[in-house]
Amino acid sequence: MSGRRVYLETFGCQMNELDSELVAGQLASLGYQFTSRSDEADVVLYNTCSVREQAEQKVWSRLGELRASKADKPEMVVGVLGCMAERDGTDLMNRMPVVDVMCGPAELDKLPSLIDNAVRTRESLVAGDPESASLKSVKASALQGSASRRSGTLAAAEDSLEYLDLSRSVSPIDPVGSIRQSAYVRITRGCNKFCTYCVVPFTRGAEIHRPPSHIIEEVQRLADQGVTEITLLGQTVNHYRFEHDSATQVDGIIQSQKGRAFKGGHTRDPLAGERVTTFADLLYELHEKAPSIQRLRFVTSYPRDFGDDVLEVIRDCPRICRYLHVPAQTGSDRMLKMMNRGYTVSQYDEFVSRAREHLHQPEIGRPLMISGDIIVGFPTETNKDFAQTVDLLERTRYKSCFIFKYSPRPGTVAYDKIPDDIPDAVKRERNNELLAIQNKISDEVSKEQIGAQYDILVEGPSQRQIKAAGLSQRNAKKAAGGGVQLTIGGRSADETEELSVTAVLEQSEGETVQFSGRTDGDQIVMFDAPKETASALPGQIRRVKITDGSGLSLFGDLLD
Ligand code: 5AD
Ligand code: SF4
Repeated sequence: MSGRRVYLETFGCQMNELDSELVAGQLASLGYQFTSRSDEADVVLYNTCSVREQAEQKVWSRLGELRASKADKPEMVVGVLGCMAERDGTDLMNRMPVVDVMCGPAELDKLPSLIDNAVRTRESLVAGDPESASLKSVKASALQGSASRRSGTLAAAEDSLEYLDLSRSVSPIDPVGSIRQSAYVRITRGCNKFCTYCVVPFTRGAEIHRPPSHIIEEVQRLADQGVTEITLLGQTVNHYRFEHDSATQVDGIIQSQKGRAFKGGHTRDPLAGERVTTFADLLYELHEKAPSIQRLRFVTSYPRDFGDDVLEVIRDCPRICRYLHVPAQTGSDRMLKMMNRGYTVSQYDEFVSRAREHLHQPEIGRPLMISGDIIVGFPTETNKDFAQTVDLLERTRYKSCFIFKYSPRPGTVAYDKIPDDIPDAVKRERNNELLAIQNKISDEVSKEQIGAQYDILVEGPSQRQIKAAGLSQRNAKKAAGGGVQLTIGGRSADETEELSVTAVLEQSEGETVQFSGRTDGDQIVMFDAPKETASALPGQIRRVKITDGSGLSLFGDLLD
């Protein structure tokens, strides 16, 4: 299949970014190449998100735009991957005949063969009868339905997705084609919480924990390849728990394990030790066994079941970041109950103060930074409920917080049982009010850092510098090297040239260039660096003295 070009665009969360990267690796090993332009592609793939309706609408409009390209190029294969494929099922194909392939997030290991078959079939159809081929699609789908929830144990066949995660470690091809400093590593798939508004337990399936040995090996391989920052991923990442006594093997490979009712203690896991690898154990082992990883982070934390054992490991391990993403969703106990979040506002507050007690150490240059998520306008939310959320925001003082308007999602309990009775205008008003409050808090938190000295993991030239160098907005994120790209484009030679740090330096005027990096609390820091030494900076940890702070950004002077 060599020479076929794939355009892969990712919507939504970090889990999706990782899925896209793994899928891209698999397709690359089958000989597919990548392009950053959908109109040049033979295969167009959208890795979709269903968490809010807005995310789905973007995909609908992209699919609409493809109709014309496909009419011109009938051999083109279009695939919808991820949560929207799983949620809409084959209805999506009926509504959008342009779609040939659908693949849910729990079936992505099957995607390469689905694509390969669809490409071959369409090509032979077009060769035989271009007229009829332009009307026909080659429909193929892999969706889990409710399969992953059928039993309490994980059947061997259900664990085939593990091979997709494992494939990254052994694939010699980096589809992005560049040296990366940051990588995501999944530790848990799916979710068992069933918050009433959330589609994730239905689209990603039951909670499944990967064997610790696989995770450690993957991190070590990434470290060997030069990665310096690892972000561990899980929907409720602190629920990670692997019971070795009940581990099974198939063909010598340890299988992932279904999450049970969480047995970890409120402050400590009573079964921690030889027989169980807890989240605290996993963090500690990764820290010890991959010493070249300068930054070890994890998202997203669930505010309950977060033991002191985890906080102690974070405190005692210098390369584990002082950063927690721990969504409260609301500051009202009544809303928390209706959301089925499983904790009270005072339990949330208790966790935040316990975390700060253990981890907030500005005196050693390591303040704890916390970020959150809030949903406004959940059904029946009153002014009083909302006022309690305002209070929560004001007392928690997140460094940043995502604020979402409630979006009813078909298939969820809230969609079926609780009418979406808050008018959009009210949702918008509450959303704007919280945004204004959070912006003020973020600005204050930034200004509190003035005078401090922090170790910064340098990412690359700042957005401002890239723009000043005349590079396009679209490529700015790529040149800044910030994590995994949203669009994975196999670059042409001139694009590669355009994106390199050297090119930014060459095209910048003056003796210094502005770089950006992040503190271990995930705050963004801009600083100027002398041009002659700047090209070696990305990926390095450097000390910066903070001189200013505004909004979400800090500004500082390079000290060494
Ligand atoms: N409507 C609005 N926001 C939602 N989220 C999840 N589901 C919905 C929904 N139906 C938000 C939550 C979650 C984040 C990833 O998305 O805040 O933490
Ligand atoms: Fe969705 Fe709740 Fe699971 Fe998060 S914990 S993925 S909000 S169900």
